[in-house]
Amino acid sequence: MTYKHIKTIDTSKDFILPCRKDQLERIKDFLPIAKPDFDGSFSTHQLLYGKDGNRIYLIGLGKEKHSAQLEKTFQKLAFETQKHWDKNMQLYAEDLNQDELKKAIIGLEMAQYEIGEFKSEKEKGIKRTVAVASSNAIKNILNEGHYTGETINRIKALVDAPPNIKTPEFLGKWAEKSAKDADYKCTVLKHKELKKQGFEAVLSVGKGSVNKPVVIINEYTPKKSKKVDICLVGKGITFDSGGLSIKPSTNLHYMKSDMGGAAVVLGTVELVAKLKLDINIVGIVCSAENAVDSESYRPGDVIDSYSGKTIEIIDTDAEGRLVLADGLSYAVKHIKPEYLIDLATLTGSVVRTLGYEAAGMFTHNKVMASTMSDIGYKVHERVWQLPMFEEYKSDLHSDIADLRNFSGKPLAGATNAAQFLESFIEDHKNWMHLDIAGVSFGSSPYAKMKSASGYGIQLITEFVKSKAVK
Ligand code: BES
Ligand code: ZN
Ligand code: ZN
Repeated sequence: MTYKHIKTIDTSKDFILPCRKDQLERIKDFLPIAKPDFDGSFSTHQLLYGKDGNRIYLIGLGKEKHSAQLEKTFQKLAFETQKHWDKNMQLYAEDLNQDELKKAIIGLEMAQYEIGEFKSEKEKGIKRTVAVASSNAIKNILNEGHYTGETINRIKALVDAPPNIKTPEFLGKWAEKSAKDADYKCTVLKHKELKKQGFEAVLSVGKGSVNKPVVIINEYTPKKSKKVDICLVGKGITFDSGGLSIKPSTNLHYMKSDMGGAAVVLGTVELVAKLKLDINIVGIVCSAENAVDSESYRPGDVIDSYSGKTIEIIDTDAEGRLVLADGLSYAVKHIKPEYLIDLATLTGSVVRTLGYEAAGMFTHNKVMASTMSDIGYKVHERVWQLPMFEEYKSDLHSDIADLRNFSGKPLAGATNAAQFLESFIEDHKNWMHLDIAGVSFGSSPYAKMKSASGYGIQLITEFVKSKAVK
């Protein structure tokens, strides 16, 4: 879909008319209807025909509390009706503020996502243009909404991709192409280089798979200063079988989504580069497949790590924290960022704690926590802080190594994982861990099975924007 700015709407052609709940006066400007059978409720729409036989879609914005998730109503309208649209549609945007318009464009773009990429017969979508009518200067908003929606779709496609295709190497190729298209630097460290540099935890997790691990380093650094403002680290497990501590087979196919954190990191760097934000940002993705094989790492093994700390493996299914440990160590040693944020589909425990409505947030930095929480509400990608009390640390004690990867107890799982990660950040003052296991992948009205949500792109991009030079 492309988006262009027009000053006034052509009322003889098709258009979308946004309406707030119980505020339908605007309709009278376009139609001789005193009381339509539509009340502007959130995520509803109503088709009327104009006197030229043109389509007029009344679309419900709901109440003010719905503004954070406004993309949903536009996504629904486009998803359900665009098959009837001509090449051109118009949107009456005079009554939308900037945030609302951005959300509207994100939603229209999200409706372009095609989940059936691997079907042998695909529906051919037509390229449409939406002309957005407003007397304000909205070009930048249209651009931002378009790029954001497009990036959300691109990371959803990655998370939904099957694990036989989406190998660690595939993620590396994806990043290289993205870097070329959006003009940033991408380095993919392959097996030999990982060995040479000492990414031992990443290598251990990937040992059981023919699809060898990679570490991807994406750098978008437009500023004169070399100092990196933000470093993002993502868990990129392309399939998590659990390894020798094998998972039960029910819903195992969904473990293709265990690279949701990596997808957010890849997508955010791409989007920040496309938006040309004035900020230095580095994205690190640690990617491996956690497979079952005679070569697999075992429970009981003691492995090395990038930091030099040794780790006793209690459970090979607690693999995400291992690959992240190496990514975080690399970040603090070489990138030395002002802010360090990792994202990972890390624990089932966070899903049991917060369900599908919020990511688990772990940090010692109160200001960062409050900023992230506020942004979470604003973009409807919410986070909820969970504790990092020192007392939890004793659960990571190992008799034979520097620490172990699991307490062995079915208690405080998400916090224990966060505590493990904290052992690798060298007391970085501005570190945050987001456990997105419950929010990255789930049910949606647009698919019969669970699928990617796109969670994280708006949250992290807005955080990056809040730190960028205006
Ligand atoms: N990838 C899983 C976590 C997960 C669970 C993601 C559900 C998405 C949905 C992770 O690697 C894992 O298996 N964690 C274990 C850790 C345990 C063995 C210490 C868990 O949470 O059960
Ligand atoms: Zn696991
Ligand atoms: Zn995992």
